Amino acid sequence: MPASPTATPDHIKDVNTRYHDAAADSYDSKWGIDFGEIGQEQVASKLRRTMGGKMPEPFGDALEIGAGTGYFSLNLASQGLIEHLTATDISPGMLRSLEKTAGSLGVPVTTVVTEAEVLPFEDESFDVVLGHAVLHHIPDLDSAFSEFLRVLRPGGSIVFCGEPSRYGDRLAAVPKRTGHLLAPVWRRLIQATELQHTEEELADDEHRLEPEVDVHAFVPADLRAIPPRAGFEHTRVRGEELVANVWGWGMRSMEATAAPDTIPIPWRNFAYRSYLGFQKVDQAILEPYLPAELFYNPLLSAKKPE
Ligand SMILES: C[S@@+](CC[C@H](N)C(=O)[O-])C[C@H]1O[C@@H](n2cnc3c(N)ncnc32)[C@H](O)[C@@H]1O
Repeated sequence: MPASPTATPDHIKDVNTRYHDAAADSYDSKWGIDFGEIGQEQVASKLRRTMGGKMPEPFGDALEIGAGTGYFSLNLASQGLIEHLTATDISPGMLRSLEKTAGSLGVPVTTVVTEAEVLPFEDESFDVVLGHAVLHHIPDLDSAFSEFLRVLRPGGSIVFCGEPSRYGDRLAAVPKRTGHLLAPVWRRLIQATELQHTEEELADDEHRLEPEVDVHAFVPADLRAIPPRAGFEHTRVRGEELVANVWGWGMRSMEATAAPDTIPIPWRNFAYRSYLGFQKVDQAILEPYLPAELFYNPLLSAKKPE
């Protein structure tokens, strides 16, 4: 459910900060975020597909917007695809978590708490501006893209992945509903216990604010139109995840109904591995041939003119 159409930009940003601060500590386990080989392979593949199928040269100075706990940029930096990383986010809690992970991975990073629409950086300071699952939270996308253009060096790129598509969202509603319906039978089969939230948990920021943090769901045409308005060229949009999306949301909807420590590890492994398998099917068979409109996540890249 998205933020109310009457919510002000300040309200949306305040809600995003509080929700993500509250969610930071459990974020990686909730979303299955990996900082090992699997996570690195996922982000490298996203980068390659977003840039038109060819892996770019490693980026010198990279700026991540809405970096969260670091899924995208730390996984790129730890395999040498980024030399100097600056990670930004509106939520100080998410950046604290990112710093901890960067420390354990041995990845040097500068973190800056900032919103996307007003960036505290000099003109032409970065070679790439990137983000994952962040554009859909930003109230004023035209201002944000003007800032991305300003801080990029001539010839620099933007790379955004993992943004929800409006069509993909509708498609995902089917496995979400089905997963929810099947959940009681599934819990009995794997002997998991139903998750019960305490009143205290239901009243905390993470639960209360979740329905208000999203402001946009894009159709690929929206994402094709925004960068040129800001002055970018060579805008490219392609789709990501169709079968993996249907399967993943079905699994996630069932799992969300069970107390996490009662879900058997072999089940978790099966759900995760099968999701990764379907991602491979999407990448090999469907994504190259079907229109971006059909997929769950549009991938976006564009260039600042030389
Ligand atoms: C869905 S999370 C994605 C985090 C991370 N990029 C990932 O893929 O795991 C969205 C992130 O965007 C941040 N965010 C929300 N609104 C923002 C804004 N206006 N400016 C900058 N960051 C924002 C949130 O705090 C959160 O960390």
